[in-house]
Amino acid sequence: MAAQILVASNRGPVSYVPREDGTFDARRGGGGLVSGLSAIGPDAGALWVCAALGDGDRQAVRQGVAAEPGVKMLDIDAAVHADAYNGIANSVLWFVNHMLYQTPLEPVFDAEFRRQWASYRLYNRAFAEALAEEAADGAVVIVQDYHLALVPGMLRELRPDLRIGHFSHTPWAPPEYFSMLPDDIAEELLLGMLGADRLGFLTWRWLKAFQDCCTTSLRDMDVTTHWPKDQSPSVRYQAHGRPHLTLLGVHGLGADGDFLRERSRRPDVDDRMAMLREQIGPDRRTIVRVDRTELSKNIVRGLLAYRHLLAERPEWHERVVHLAFAYPSRQDLPVYREYTAQVARLADEINAEYGRDGWTPVILHVEDDFARSLAAYRLADVALVNPIRDGMNLVAKEVPVVSDAGCALVLSREAGAYEELREDAITVNPYDVTGTADALHEALSMPPAERADRTKRLASAATSLPPARWFLDQLTALRP
Ligand code: G6P
Repeated sequence: MAAQILVASNRGPVSYVPREDGTFDARRGGGGLVSGLSAIGPDAGALWVCAALGDGDRQAVRQGVAAEPGVKMLDIDAAVHADAYNGIANSVLWFVNHMLYQTPLEPVFDAEFRRQWASYRLYNRAFAEALAEEAADGAVVIVQDYHLALVPGMLRELRPDLRIGHFSHTPWAPPEYFSMLPDDIAEELLLGMLGADRLGFLTWRWLKAFQDCCTTSLRDMDVTTHWPKDQSPSVRYQAHGRPHLTLLGVHGLGADGDFLRERSRRPDVDDRMAMLREQIGPDRRTIVRVDRTELSKNIVRGLLAYRHLLAERPEWHERVVHLAFAYPSRQDLPVYREYTAQVARLADEINAEYGRDGWTPVILHVEDDFARSLAAYRLADVALVNPIRDGMNLVAKEVPVVSDAGCALVLSREAGAYEELREDAITVNPYDVTGTADALHEALSMPPAERADRTKRLASAATSLPPARWFLDQLTALRP
């Protein structure tokens, strides 16, 4: 049956792990999109189109057992996928939007880049074709993120009847940075996205940056950007002698309060709390961070700030522990592996420098464990969220919801969540290590009553747009 509502993303809601007996274990993932989609119910005729990501997924698709209802997994050539995902999406588009290049040496847009870009096109085309095939007449399609930036334009050509949206979960770079991309690539990327009827962003700041990039990079297309009062902002432009209009909107994804409150009170989380308390030791404050080990998360500067705190304020020795959960991510890329190793080295150095019998200043955990993350949220006195740049950062929104007794939030002004949480957070410039150390001291010293008050207000701001509404708002905005 043709689908009425379609979602497309690189990573889907399920992955397949082969068992020894030749069958497959279908593992369901979480996240905003999964809970958002569940809001429309199983009978809404929704289909999630995603890519097979590893050998397990590929085998499951080929053997016809990748048959989760409402999910279509695409078996795209592994080399094409690797070029598109590791080469372009993670090493170029992610780096541009998070402004991560070390510019004296990077980026280099050479023949290898052009080759990978050709794969990125093929990969996007495979999605566009699958969506065109599966969508009912006039269906709504919401495409996710930088992996699939070309899909809206390609799909529009194949199926002009569809209502097409695209949502960016990342920041957007300002034009001075975005224009590092070769002009023809920048144009192809923007026009690909502008093929959508509507583009969604997490904050006004990213939306505005996207508009500015259109003005700068689509010079010959007579671009006008609008911010009319009480109406959607838009980008208008001329292409092939015809006028085009794409609406833009902000949907600041919030934490799933009901789910988090229920999930964080289950026995497995209580067990992890007991385990962590044992590791921390009695009568100590706890600074918690939970991240994927991702360059933009700024884990190294966070550890440097903690080291500076211990160096400058010996009164905290033996009275504080930093729980740093840094879960490995994108380990196919050498730069991520090096960063992961650097985080571990620095944690070891701090422990060697300051640790004593019975006190380990940094407890680093690298194995992903959601129940343990929730346990850490519950007992944290301080949460450190200091990304260099981040589309939103849901940890900043989840901690206040789950916290038992109130938790002071040290928050980077470069996180999307800053727009909504800044009033009750202690905000920092993520590059300023001594400033971050001062913020940690202020957070550790905050009186418990003030901490509890602020946490209540943070939790209410953090849950103002739960995933279900976030998704439904986008659907509503896309329907004519
Ligand atoms: C983060 C970003 C998303 C992105 C995802 C991809 O969650 O906020 O914008 O889609 O990473 O992660 P992956 O592990 O699939 O590379």
